[in-house]
Amino acid sequence: MISEKIQSALNEQLKEEFFSSYLYLSMAAYFEEKNLKGFANWFRIQSQEENMHGLKFFNFIVQKGGKVSLKQIDAPKIDWKSILELFTDSLKHEQKITGYINNLTELSMNEKDYATHTFLQWFITEQVEEEANVHEIIQKLEMIGDNKSGLYMLDNELGSMSATSAVE
Ligand code: FEO
Repeated sequence: MISEKIQSALNEQLKEEFFSSYLYLSMAAYFEEKNLKGFANWFRIQSQEENMHGLKFFNFIVQKGGKVSLKQIDAPKIDWKSILELFTDSLKHEQKITGYINNLTELSMNEKDYATHTFLQWFITEQVEEEANVHEIIQKLEMIGDNKSGLYMLDNELGSMSATSAVE
């Protein structure tokens, strides 16, 4: 079993992961509109991964005999002034999620909920990777500046990526 406090916090994070999926799908749509298919592909993959993160929370709550309660998901932003602004938003969002995961981990320690604590370790590692990936793209975009052929090359690079994660 899990405590009411932990259950409620896990359900809240489940919602945040699905919001992330929605946000990244909105970012994919922004790039589809600009015909930047590689960037769109990258965000489609991010969206799928966030969906998988949400399902991990779903599965864990079920396994622990808790109650899943799905909450309303806010509408994400749909427009950005520039590609760089969009990626900066994406990084800020991931940093916010990292903060939520850290708070959840702290709560699990305070509640002496070792199973939840162990479950969250995967997310702590994942957040390091996700922040690093977005940061790397931001650095490339800063280097590219207004150079159209640089942007074309980055679009090709991101277009060659494929999803690797699966729901466990
Ligand atoms: Fe599931 Fe990108 O945090």
